[in-house]
Amino acid sequence: MVEQKCLRVVSLVGARPQFVKVAPVHHELVSRGIEHHIIHSGQHYDEAMSDSFFSDLRLPPPTINLEIGSGSHAAQTAGIIQRLDDALNDLQPQVVLVYGDTNTTLAGALVVAKRSEFLVHIEAGLRSFNRTMPEEINRVLVDHAAHLLLVPTQHAMQHLANEGLQQRSVLVGDVMVDALEFMKKIVEQQPPLMPTGWASSSEVVFATLHRAENSDNKERLEYLIGQLSNYSLPVRLAAHPRLVSRMKEFGITVSGNLSLWQPLSYPQTVAAVLQAGLVVTDSGGLQKEAVLLGRPCLTARYETEWTETVDAGWNLLDPLLTTSPQEWMGRQRVPLARSVFGDGRTAHHIVDALLERYPQTYE
Ligand code: UD1
Repeated sequence: MVEQKCLRVVSLVGARPQFVKVAPVHHELVSRGIEHHIIHSGQHYDEAMSDSFFSDLRLPPPTINLEIGSGSHAAQTAGIIQRLDDALNDLQPQVVLVYGDTNTTLAGALVVAKRSEFLVHIEAGLRSFNRTMPEEINRVLVDHAAHLLLVPTQHAMQHLANEGLQQRSVLVGDVMVDALEFMKKIVEQQPPLMPTGWASSSEVVFATLHRAENSDNKERLEYLIGQLSNYSLPVRLAAHPRLVSRMKEFGITVSGNLSLWQPLSYPQTVAAVLQAGLVVTDSGGLQKEAVLLGRPCLTARYETEWTETVDAGWNLLDPLLTTSPQEWMGRQRVPLARSVFGDGRTAHHIVDALLERYPQTYE
């Protein structure tokens, strides 16, 4: 009889979208009796950007918080690298999961690639082919460092094959679908309290804007805010702290139909999308969430990693926000086949793939 060993898995997360992605994985691991710890890098650290996600997604508090906070890419990445090494020495996991494309993901991959743990990248293979995006650099480096690449879409599988990484890649689907479907049910049963003054109307546009390429350049940010202010429909923009601080720094104010709101919690975001007639965003996750919830999207970027949403006619790349919102809302569309992003049981497939590919036998 093989001695009973307990597999210990660590997830390293640090930014808003990663809290969403880790939730289904955590619940699946725990339901299969696998010990799972969350290490929080502290990249996002306040109630709205971090804590509310843990409570809304029924996640336990992180076992360790590296409390790295804000900083330049170099400072953030280097700080996580240094502190993570100690945290992994304390926890002694066999497997480390990293998620998506943030500085937290990259720092985790750089540390684990030179240690003994098995490194798994969840949401591998996405590419914008824009090397000026910090996220693109992070993705490419992490994919090349990881032992196992768990992939959301067929397109992403193809990108990995083109880079010679097919042997390490497994198509599992998109874990955000699991989280979104979980949250949609909750929101439908018990609509969340929205911020004071938030009106519910299908003629409202729900917007977010935070990407460095949009928010860090004064002229571009001024232009985009101007375009949104001139929309003929009310636009409710849930403002990421990065946007708020850049607007203040550049002296940009809102006018016309545009109003600025605090960052929303995950249930509030799902409710806001369901209430809106249109979503305008530069967020990768929100583009897809909008389309999966049956709302058309205008993406304020020149490229997207989620080309399936564009091919299906639900998402339009509109980097200068010149498209008429009414015109784009009014188009006839057939619902996107959810199967493009998996079967909604991605966390289950992630754990299956992990157990199958992990190089030791656990009973
Ligand atoms: C990061 C990710 C991005 C992801 C986004 C999700 C990288 C390179 N980018 O961008 O891919 O889409 O998270 O939100 O990792 N701040 C706060 N409170 C917080 C967190 C941040 O006020 O809890 C402010 C700080 O002023 C900080 C700024 O937001 O300087 C930006 O945060 P940072 O983590 O550097 O990058 P994001 O823009 O959030």
